[in-house]
Amino acid sequence: MDAIVVDRLSYRYQAVGREILKNISFKVAPGEIVALVGLSGCGKSTLCMCLGGIIPHYLGGMLDGQVLINGKDTKEYRVARLALEVGLVFQDPDTQLFAPTVEDEIAFAPENLCLPVEEVATRVDNVLDTLGITSLRKTNPNHLSGGQKHLVAMGAVLALEPSILVLDELIAQLDPAGKRIINEILVDLRRRGKTILIVEHDPEAVSIADRMLVLEEGRLIKDGETATVLEWWESMLRHKYGCKSWTISGHAAGPE
Ligand SMILES: Nc1ncnc2c1ncn2[C@@H]1O[C@H](COP(=O)(O)OP(=O)(O)OP(=O)(O)O)[C@@H](O)[C@H]1O
Ligand SMILES: [Mg+2]
Repeated sequence: MDAIVVDRLSYRYQAVGREILKNISFKVAPGEIVALVGLSGCGKSTLCMCLGGIIPHYLGGMLDGQVLINGKDTKEYRVARLALEVGLVFQDPDTQLFAPTVEDEIAFAPENLCLPVEEVATRVDNVLDTLGITSLRKTNPNHLSGGQKHLVAMGAVLALEPSILVLDELIAQLDPAGKRIINEILVDLRRRGKTILIVEHDPEAVSIADRMLVLEEGRLIKDGETATVLEWWESMLRHKYGCKSWTISGHAAGPE
């Protein structure tokens, strides 16, 4: 069974608003790392929220087509249930973090599942270790850097042990060393069987992906092997959009 199936997905934030996602179809096999790219505002975060069930359950709007996560139609399952299948890390981690310490943040979701105390403690230790943030366990997430906050937000979803991770611009705010660490973590998670969809603008981040998807104004315009699509995309950026570089201060490249 495919980990993710998106079938003719279209979406408007309000029933009368403009269409943000337009007839998108793609599949992700278990264990794949897929990168999603596109200019700012093309709908990447909106698509991530569809994968996590935030759309339509929390944001409403009008969704046509189907999103299946491990065979489960996101329209038919509650977000809390979907979170056991798919861990969504938002572009802005501040929307996700609220506990007084890093370890409380990571323990929150498994505690909510009423798992035994020892099991929660083991999960917290494992997640801190996997992400290399054990030294931050007693720190208040508000006092962390943007990159560290993203790691904690990722830890909070990993604690539910979902088989799929959807990471919306996880490494955009990291320095080169931080980016390398995250890439190693993602490759390691894949080795342990996770399926990962990353939204990134950074060629280095995309390089770990098996496949690359390109969104343009809500349409999926490319889906293929990373090296081939990357070359095509960089040429599009230069020639169609007139961009000199792929990233501009950590954000999507726009015409210069
Ligand atoms: N809650 C919302 N209500 C209405 N429109 C929204 C909402 N969130 C996003 N949009 C609009 O949907 C479009 C796609 O936004 P989205 O955030 O998905 O793009 P993105 O590709 O993630 O951009 P970026 O690279 O800047 O993060 C934009 O035009 C945005 O203004
Ligand atoms: Mg976004």
